[in-house]
Amino acid sequence: MAKNVFKGRSLTVIEDLSIDERRYFFRKCYELKQAAISNDKAKLDEFRINDKDFGIYEVFLENSTRTKESFRNAANFHHAKVSELMTSSSSINKGESYADTFNMLTGYDNSIFIVRSQVEGLCRWLDDESADYTRRNNLPVKPAFINAGDGKHEHPTQELLDEFTFLEDNGMDFSNIHVALVGDLYHGRTVHSKADGLKLFDKVKVDLVAPPELAMPENYLEKMKENGFEVNVYSSIEEYLSGNHDIAKMWYFTRPQLERMGERILQKQDILRESITFKKDFLDRIPVGTKFYHPLPRHKEHPTIPTWLDSTDLNGWERQAINGMYVRIILLAIIAGKVGDDYVAPEKEEKVVADEDYIVKVDVSGKKNEKKKVYSEGVHPIENGIVIDHICRGDRPDDIRNHMRLISSVLNIDSDRGGEWISRGSDGAYKGIIFRPGEYELTRKDLKRLAAVAPGCTLNVVRDGKIEAKYRMHMPPRVYNFDDLSCKNESCISHPSQGENVPALFYRTPDGHFECAFCGKSHGFKEIWKGGKN
Ligand code: CP
Repeated sequence: MAKNVFKGRSLTVIEDLSIDERRYFFRKCYELKQAAISNDKAKLDEFRINDKDFGIYEVFLENSTRTKESFRNAANFHHAKVSELMTSSSSINKGESYADTFNMLTGYDNSIFIVRSQVEGLCRWLDDESADYTRRNNLPVKPAFINAGDGKHEHPTQELLDEFTFLEDNGMDFSNIHVALVGDLYHGRTVHSKADGLKLFDKVKVDLVAPPELAMPENYLEKMKENGFEVNVYSSIEEYLSGNHDIAKMWYFTRPQLERMGERILQKQDILRESITFKKDFLDRIPVGTKFYHPLPRHKEHPTIPTWLDSTDLNGWERQAINGMYVRIILLAIIAGKVGDDYVAPEKEEKVVADEDYIVKVDVSGKKNEKKKVYSEGVHPIENGIVIDHICRGDRPDDIRNHMRLISSVLNIDSDRGGEWISRGSDGAYKGIIFRPGEYELTRKDLKRLAAVAPGCTLNVVRDGKIEAKYRMHMPPRVYNFDDLSCKNESCISHPSQGENVPALFYRTPDGHFECAFCGKSHGFKEIWKGGKN
C-alpha cells in the first residue's frame, strides 16, 4: 500500500497542502457531510479515528469561539481526547519561551497542537523546534502543529472551510471562481490566506473592495498576481456596484479588526466601516444568486453584513461556519492517518535544479594585457585590495551612500582604510563604489553576505594592479545563518523584540524580494539586516 502522505503533517500555512492534496481533502469533506446529512452511521465510522490515546491540545493565546469549539467537537466525533493549555495561568506569563512551553507538552505524548496567537509564524517555528526536541529525547512521534490563526498572517483551517463552502456552491467545480473580498483586507488573516488558497481553482478573478486604509497589503496583492489571478481594486461597495464591470456572485466579507488597528485608523473606524457595510439599496444592484460569506464573528452593534440579511438567500455564512466542523474532522483524520491511504499523488515532473549561481565568477584572463584604464572623478586605482562596483545602480545618491554604509558594516570593513564613491554612468544613472586597499581573503560566506546585501554589484579582487578575480552578485535564493539578519515585522516570531531567539530566514520571491519564512513579510534587500531601513 502507498504511504499515507498526510500522516503527522503540520498545517502552518495553506500552502503546506498542495493543490492536489486539497482537492482530495475536499472530496473527503463532501463524502463526510453527505454521510452526516443522511445519518449513514457506517459511512461516518469510516472517518473516525477511534483511538483514545490520540488527542488534540488546544493552545489559544487569542480569543476564539468557532475555531476552538469546532476542533473540540471534531475531536469528540473521533472519540479522541481534548486537552487545553490554560494560557492565562501558564508559565508563558513568567517569561518562558514558546519553544520551551511546547517542547514540554510534546514530552507529554501529544499528537496535534492547535495554536492561535498574535505572534506570526509561531507554528512554523514550533514545527521546526519540535523536530529537534523529538530527536533529542528519542520520542516516538513528532507532533503536528495546526495554525489556528497567527496575527494578521494566515488562518489556514479557515481557508479550508471557506474553500469547501465555495466549492459546495460551485458544484464542486475546480475550474474557476470569481469572488469579491470585502472589508478589512489589511488586517484580516483569512483574506491573506486566499492569496495562495484560491490557487485551488484553475482560473481566479478577485475583486478587492476596501478603503485605502484597509487595502490588501502589497505583498499579498503581488502574490495574487504572480499566481495568475485577475485582480481588480475598489475603494467601497458603492464604487464596486457603480462601474461597468462584472459583479461577483460570491462576496466574502471580513470584519474590521479593531484589535489590530493603530490609533490613527481606529479614529476613522466609522467612516471606514461605512464603505464596507452592505445597505438595503444595494440589494437590486447585485446579481441574482449572489451568496455572502463571512469567517465570523461579526460585531453585534456594527455588523458589515446586517442581521436583516440572515433570513435571505444571500446567507452563506451560517453554512460556512457549520462546515468548519466537517472540515476539521477530516483534517484531524488525515493527520492521524485514518483517511488518506487512497490518495495518489500526481506524477511530478522531475525538475532539474541546477546549482544556482548567484555568485558568478567572471573570466578575467583575457584582460591581463589590457592597457591601464584612465580613471575619472578622482578614483585612483588601487594596487592591492577589493573594489565593489555597481552598487544600487539607478538609485538616488543619498540612498546609495546610506546603503554603502550598511554594506561596509555587513562585510565588517567599516574601520578599514579606503572609501566610498558615487559615480554617474553614460546613461546618467548613479552607482556606488566601495574600495578598500589591502590584503583580503574573502570566504564563500563573505561573498554570500555581499550578494544578499548588494545584489547587482560586482566585486573585483585586485593584486599587483591587475584584477585577479571578478564576481557578479545576484540575490541568493535563501538567506539565513547570519546573526545580523532581522525580519522587520514586530509581530513575527523571529523579530528580536519577541525575545524568542528565533534566527531570521528569508526566501527570495519571483519579484525580487526577500520573504520572511515565518510571517511571510516581504522585504527589499536593504531591509533584512538589523541596521537596514525599515
Ligand atoms: N472564524 C474564526 O476564526 O472565528 P473564531 O475567532 O471565533 O475562532
